[in-house]
Amino acid sequence: MAPSMEKSHAREVREMFGRISPRYDLMNFLITGGQDVVWRNFLVRAAGVGKGSVVLDIGAGTGVVAKAAAKKAKLVVAADFTPEMVAAGAKKRPQALWAAADAMALPFSDASFDAVLSAYLLRNVSDPAAAAAEMVRVARPGGRVACLETTPPPPGPLAPFIRFHLDRVIPLLGQVVAGDREAYEYLPRTTQAFLKPQALARLFTEAGLANVRFRTFAFSTQVVAWGVKPG
Ligand SMILES: C[S@@+](CC[C@H](N)C(=O)[O-])C[C@H]1O[C@@H](n2cnc3c(N)ncnc32)[C@H](O)[C@@H]1O
Repeated sequence: MAPSMEKSHAREVREMFGRISPRYDLMNFLITGGQDVVWRNFLVRAAGVGKGSVVLDIGAGTGVVAKAAAKKAKLVVAADFTPEMVAAGAKKRPQALWAAADAMALPFSDASFDAVLSAYLLRNVSDPAAAAAEMVRVARPGGRVACLETTPPPPGPLAPFIRFHLDRVIPLLGQVVAGDREAYEYLPRTTQAFLKPQALARLFTEAGLANVRFRTFAFSTQVVAWGVKPG
């Protein structure tokens, strides 16, 4: 993507998340029926977060994952490039240390974190490979990098029901609950266009991780991928 297009993409994404930040947590609960808690907790485990870990949650939003990680870790930095999200997160989930940061150019030194994770970030950035490379750069050798993402629903007997949920139910909920149908049309559109689980794992391998694995959830509409930074 040309630099000017990258800038306008980032501005549009930031404005959209700024608009939906007040209803963001409620919408997640309604869209997933509360199941996202399970996937987020699995993400924290896959990232190897434990006692003494220093963790980065990038694209932290309102900090749901950061809070789950903070229950286990020594220190969690929650970072996002949308000011409204950082403000909401810092207020709701002060267990983390909050920072403004762009996933495409993280303001942290190499090898700063034991674990680097993201939830539903990579689908939103103009260059997921560059963002993954940044996540790997700031992880220490031997540390883990992990992400949770939505992924295109696979074909099969459930596909029409999943498409109905994505294309009809989610935009309607967005319109009624968040007052922003457009933002919740963006979600299914970008999910449909995003990487399948195997391709996401390949992206992590190409970004420099070893032992990359993934696990899918919710009829393969959600994926957690993770790997270890060699060294
Ligand atoms: C779908 S939300 C996910 C929030 C949170 N991780 C969660 O699981 O609920 C995506 C978040 O990524 C942030 N984001 C998108 N592009 C970003 C970028 N380039 N750098 C940092 N944050 C970004 C948005 O501001 C938004 O808060």
